[in-house]
Amino acid sequence: MLRLLSLAWVLIVSASALTTHSKPQPHDTTSSYFIPFVVQNVSAQAQFTSGVLDGPKVHPINSSVWDWWYFDAVTLDATSRASVVVTFFTTPQTAFPLLPPSDYVTVAYIWVSWPNGTLWSWVMDADGATVIVNEGGGGASGTWHGTGFSFTSTPELEYKIEIDSPGAGVVGSISFQPTSPPHYPCGPVAPGQTVLLSTHLGWENAIPDAVTVVDLRVRGERLAFTGSGYHDKNWSDQPFGTHVYSWYWGRGRLGPYSLVWWDIFTVAGTESLSAYIARDGNILTASCAPGSVLARPTGNTTYPPVLSGPNPTGYHVEFDLGEEGKLVLDVDVWANLVEENPEYGRFVGGMEGLVVDAKGVKGEKLTGTALFEQFKLRD
Ligand SMILES: *[C@@H]1O[C@H](CO)[C@@H](O)[C@H](O)[C@H]1NC(C)=O
Ligand SMILES: *[C@@H]1O[C@H](CO)[C@@H](O)[C@H](O)[C@H]1NC(C)=O
Ligand SMILES: *[C@@H]1O[C@H](CO)[C@@H](O)[C@H](O)[C@H]1NC(C)=O
Ligand SMILES: *[C@@H]1O[C@H](CO)[C@@H](O)[C@H](O)[C@H]1NC(C)=O
Ligand SMILES: *[C@@H]1O[C@H](CO)[C@@H](O)[C@H](O)[C@H]1NC(C)=O
Repeated sequence: MLRLLSLAWVLIVSASALTTHSKPQPHDTTSSYFIPFVVQNVSAQAQFTSGVLDGPKVHPINSSVWDWWYFDAVTLDATSRASVVVTFFTTPQTAFPLLPPSDYVTVAYIWVSWPNGTLWSWVMDADGATVIVNEGGGGASGTWHGTGFSFTSTPELEYKIEIDSPGAGVVGSISFQPTSPPHYPCGPVAPGQTVLLSTHLGWENAIPDAVTVVDLRVRGERLAFTGSGYHDKNWSDQPFGTHVYSWYWGRGRLGPYSLVWWDIFTVAGTESLSAYIARDGNILTASCAPGSVLARPTGNTTYPPVLSGPNPTGYHVEFDLGEEGKLVLDVDVWANLVEENPEYGRFVGGMEGLVVDAKGVKGEKLTGTALFEQFKLRD
């Protein structure tokens, strides 16, 4: 039975779409996927051109591929260190070594930082996962069976994570009200766009920024705040680290701007970039062109960073705004949101920056909060 289950990849066109009498609207059609928890010993296929936003992208999950849905929320209160990250993995540890050892590929992971900076995290194996995608406009709902962790979305990409997990000792919800449009690594969401961020690395960002309400009880204590939230997914048909030498990713809200940056250094010695800026609900830039963004560490560190080197104290980031000039900012690390480890850091910090227009005239000083991370995998 287990074996049978492990081989199943079930695609069901939802009954509601079939029984409707009026002409179905695109968003009426959903597909349901079951991802077994057992690693599959066959070749996998990954999708690297735009398809349904937020659907599963790799099938089946063998020992060297990975696919996951990532969500975070961070306070905008500069005196608090509150944040929460929830990731829904369909990823074996053999493909992503930063996961704890497990025979399960379906894993739910939560990381919490309390307002006082104290960290807490929990990871749970799921008895498989069900993901239901909206074939029309995109968006997905997912249930990681047996963990009490699930997420849902509306056609407007309003996501909600619901947790009722006696195992983790967590109950409550996190809801995301998007403030800026989704995008792919090199442009807005549109048919025929690439979703390749770097070599063999797929990425799509359903929620670059959102008004996010966190209301959780974690081991009996309440973590509640309204802040800035984010959701993306990434996937690959190769183990993480095959191509990645180091990477910087970050996102945040600076004055009226919602920002996302990627600056990846590959094993081949090339740089992959992706820049996104939205203001007042409109995309100002969504690009992977050379020079679209540059992120560099500050403090006692090198670029590219090496595994044995220290973490930076911050980053200097410059976005190209085209005719509007440049957005130049400095990020200052306030706290690490994961336990110290040489390969990976996820940080909350403050941002300070300004727009420098095409004539070099500086705009007013802007401040904000960022959530950002770095991998450094080699010496
Ligand atoms: C995976 O399949 C290959 C080819 O069928 C076989 O040689 C190998 O032993 C299998 N590995 C596992 C872990 O089952
Ligand atoms: C898993 O799939 C990938 C991508 O197709 C392939 O390169 C790899 O060899 C597969 N691994 C196994 C164990 O079949
Ligand atoms: C930080 O806050 C958490 C949650 O309220 C609490 O459990 C923990 O004891 C606090 N830690 C310190 C060092 O005060
Ligand atoms: C995927 O992206 C999220 C942030 O967007 C990040 O936290 C995560 O580490 C990324 N991982 C990989 C392997 O792409
Ligand atoms: C800078 O980092 C190097 C290790 O990369 C370390 O040996 C050195 O002591 C550091 N210097 C300072 C001033 O922290």
